[in-house]
Order: sequence, then C-alpha cells, then structure tokens
Amino acid sequence: MKEAWKEAVVYQLYPLSFMDGNGDGIGDLKGILSRVDYLKELGINMVWLGPVCQSPMIDHGYDVSHYRRIADQFGTMEEMEALIEELHKRGIKLLMDLVINHTSDEHPWFEQSRSSKDNPYRDYYIWREPKEDGSPPNDWQSFSGESAWRFDEQTGEYYFHIFDEKQPDLNWENEKLRSEIYDMVRFWLDKGIDGFRLDAINHLSKDPSFPDAADDRESPRGQKYFKNGPRMHEYLQELNREAFGRYPGIVTIGEAPSVTMEEVNRYTAQDRGEMTMVLMMEMSRLDAKPGDRWGRAEWKLTRLKQIVDKWYKGVFGKGGYATYLSNHDYPRSLPRYGDDGVYRKESAKMLATFLLTAPGTPIIYQGEELGMTNAKFESIDDYRDKKTRSYYHRRVEREGADPMDALTAIHQCSKDSSRTPMQWNDSPNAGFTTGQPWIPVNPNYPDIHAEEAMADPDSIFHYYRKLIRLRKKEPVLAYGDFRLVDEEHEQVFCYTRQLENTKFVTILNFSDEKAEFNLPKDIREGLKDAEYILSNLPEGGAVLGEKPGKEDRAVLNLAPYEAIVWKLKVNA
Ligand code: GLC
Ligand code: CA
Repeated sequence: MKEAWKEAVVYQLYPLSFMDGNGDGIGDLKGILSRVDYLKELGINMVWLGPVCQSPMIDHGYDVSHYRRIADQFGTMEEMEALIEELHKRGIKLLMDLVINHTSDEHPWFEQSRSSKDNPYRDYYIWREPKEDGSPPNDWQSFSGESAWRFDEQTGEYYFHIFDEKQPDLNWENEKLRSEIYDMVRFWLDKGIDGFRLDAINHLSKDPSFPDAADDRESPRGQKYFKNGPRMHEYLQELNREAFGRYPGIVTIGEAPSVTMEEVNRYTAQDRGEMTMVLMMEMSRLDAKPGDRWGRAEWKLTRLKQIVDKWYKGVFGKGGYATYLSNHDYPRSLPRYGDDGVYRKESAKMLATFLLTAPGTPIIYQGEELGMTNAKFESIDDYRDKKTRSYYHRRVEREGADPMDALTAIHQCSKDSSRTPMQWNDSPNAGFTTGQPWIPVNPNYPDIHAEEAMADPDSIFHYYRKLIRLRKKEPVLAYGDFRLVDEEHEQVFCYTRQLENTKFVTILNFSDEKAEFNLPKDIREGLKDAEYILSNLPEGGAVLGEKPGKEDRAVLNLAPYEAIVWKLKVNA
C-alpha cells in the first residue's frame, strides 16, 4: 500500500551542532531557519529534529525539564512555529524527538516527587525501599553499567534510572502521569508537527515485581525486565488512541534496541495502532567489541547482508522500519564501514548508494552528505560527552594507560566524534558560529564543507541529491521486493529490488581492494536493455553501463568502493 512514510527520506538534524544563529556557539532554531533552503536543495522530505525542549542539558536535551517550553539556548516557541511553517512550505515534514521514558531530575514533577513520600507526584517516578542492608532494591544496571538505583537522602528511598542518575524513569503504571503525557503530545501535534522519533520507547514498561536478575546474561543486567515489558503494547495503543491516532498521517519512529522481528511486527503492524516504524539498530553494532564499549572489532560484510535480509524478510510489507548509517550516539559511518582517507569520497558515495537503494526508510545523519569524518581531538579537554571524559580519566589516571591509547579509543568510539559542528564553509569555525563553538569544529573543515560541495557537481553532496531524487521518483526503491545476490561474497554486496516489471540492481564493493563479482545469468540477460542509473566512479559504472549485455561481461571487475546501480526491464 502506498504510504508517505515509505517514500520518505529523513534527515536527522542535531540542533546543538547544525547552525548557530546568535553567535553564542550553540546551534539553535534561528540557525536552522537560516538553512532550510539547504535542506530543500538536498531534497529530503522529512526532518527528525533532536530534542529542543527546556533541559539542563546533561544529555543534550534528552533530559527534559519542561515539555512545553523551548530551551532558551535553542530559541523561542515563535521560532519553533516558524520552523514548522518554513519546512512545510518546502514540502518537508517535521518530526520532533519525544523523550518520555524519563525526565530530568530538574523537572518540576521530579522535584515534587522526591520532596516527600506522600506528595501527589511521588508515584510519577519509580521509588523503592532499600534492601535490609541498605543496598539497592535489586541488582539491575543502568546503561552506564552501574546500579540503576540512586539513593535519595530526603526520603530514604531509591529511585530508578536506566540512563544517567539525572534522568529518573517515569512510572508509566501511573494513569495520571500517562494522561499528562498524552496531553503534552497533543500540545505539540496541535502545533502542526508531523510526528515523533520516540526515544528509548521500548523501555516504558518494566516488570512490576522488579526481581533480581543474576540470571540475565545481557548487559546491562536486568534489561530483560525493563525492555519490551508486559504493558508495552497497551501503553503504545493508548498513546495512539489518546494522541497520535487523532491526527491523520502522523509518523512515529521508535528507538527500540534489541528487538526480535516478531516484536517489531507487533510494534509496527498497521492494524495494531502502535508505531509506524522501528529503527534498525543492528547495523550500528556490527563492529562492536563484545563486553567493551570502548573497543572496535572487525566486522563481516556477510553479517550486514544477513541483517538487511532478516529485517526485509521479517518486517517489510508487514510492519515498518527505518535504516541509517550513523547518528548522534555513534561515531561517523565513514571510518567504520568505509574509509575516511584516500577513498573518502568513493566510500561515502558507496554507503549512500546502499542507504538509499536498500529496503527501509532511510535516515541521513547531518554531515553524512558532506562526507564528514570523526573528530580526532588531541586533548581530552576538547571532548564534552560525560562518559567519554570519565572513560579517559579512569583509563589514564586510575589505570595508568597511555593517554594516546585512550584517545585513539575515544576517536573511534565516542559519541562526540559525530557531534562536531556542521561544516558550512571555510571561514573560521566552518561558518557554524561567529562565537566560540560548544565543541571544537573538526580541523579538516577547510577541505570538507558544504559550500565547496554544493559548487562541485561531482561532490558527495550532489551524489546524495541524485540518489534522493531517484528514491522519490522510483517506487521500486520504496516498495520493491529485495533479493540478495551471492550472500557469501565477502567484499561485494549485491542485491536487486523489483516491483512489477522494473528491477534495480545495486552492486557495492565494500572493500578498499579491487573485487571480482560474477553476475548471475538472469541479471546478465536483463542487462541487454538495461538503463545505467549511476555509479560513484566517473568511468567505472558508465563504461559497463554503455555496453550492457555482452556475454563476456559475466565477471565484473570492481574498483575499490565502487558502486553501480542499473535498472533492468523484466517480464513481471
Ligand atoms: C537515546 C538517545 C541518546 C540518549 C538516550 C537517553 O538512546 O539517542 O542520545 O542519551 O536515549 O534519552
Ligand atoms: Ca546559539
């Protein structure tokens, strides 16, 4: 069935680092407003705007202290309204980030809640008595790996937090809390936004008996009791009845780590009225080192193929999912799946080809369209992320590690690596701010910036533009069947998408070496009257495309990171 969300190309905008409009070094709404034409030029049709509500910003806005106010540093409600309008004028929908698993500890609800045991807001959060020996109520861990409970002197009880201790979890069992949330959601929908990215959404419901979890082998411990909990579907359905569902066409993208395909289907099947899509988060874990948040492991292309195939077979056409290469929680995609050195341009384009021709609604993370790379700061003082700084101090000061080794791990694994300001031009601070940026600009900005990219027809930016246009024009890319070709090949990812008698073939060399690829007979035959769509190399794909169908073209010789897309005519 035709759906706007299936045809969407989403752009993730991280407000802090997109554009500073008032010279205080922090990205803001005024800055974004000054760049809406850039988004239009790129061609995307949906924006996911990171959190902009009032917040003490210990987690850059994922710690909300007032849901109906715009944070002073980001601007005003008038500017937010103007942004909705300006995007809409350009045919771009706007999704906000909805953070409702937890609030900031500076939210007035929490200030009330912690003040006394019989305060009417007490039950808006999760409070438990200490065990007899004074220890936390159970052994569950937060995502930092420490206890998920924090003792609060004032009332002598512990409160529960799966993220930072300054982000207490809301108690969704409380009906009054739920109805306040729904009311707040309607407040934003009434402003005309088009939906939400739902932060940490599959954690809302917890096992109400809060049992010890010594048997849980997953990390953090206890996760199996605080994710996809018993009332999860009920809450989402209620959220729809009371809010989302009352506004036609609302799109929601749920952040739900560690879900099975069955769960994704339950969350996103249209007749269930829960969410539109779940984020396909598995790709971000491809190079994770088990048990080591600060390590990277070798990854296998065959594993990526399996993930893409699993989601397609398990979810496509039944539920919905969104794909991405990176986001504000991970380092940049280039050094992980491509190359940020000699093949920067080729591999960025190859990855773009993958993102925009594979199944699932694609999300482009800001700067990806410029081929931005990880920040590799030489001093820990340039990093802002709390966990990054504490990792460094632990390794270097307490464990005596070589500071260079700690920094190398940080370059590869810190969230800050992808949070540096957008590189707009080659003026000081990459044109992001006239002041002192909140985090330094990547020193490579004189070479990598939007102004140059927009002027160069061969840039990564223009390649993205072409692909985005293609994705919007060709229904096969949104709706077509997906089939893997040669799932065992370790260098080349090849697949077809087919809708009626249109068939696309995408061939991607994911390696920095030449690769040979055997085209199967049916594709070879189809090439006889194929249309060459695009390639990331000036000669490569074009040469092959002009002479399709030659029997001796059975073996393709691909250059490092080469990407080719053909359109074949087939008999449906
Ligand atoms: C999500 C966000 C992340 C944030 C966390 C807590 O994972 O993407 O940035 O820290 O939720 O809200
Ligand atoms: Ca600012």
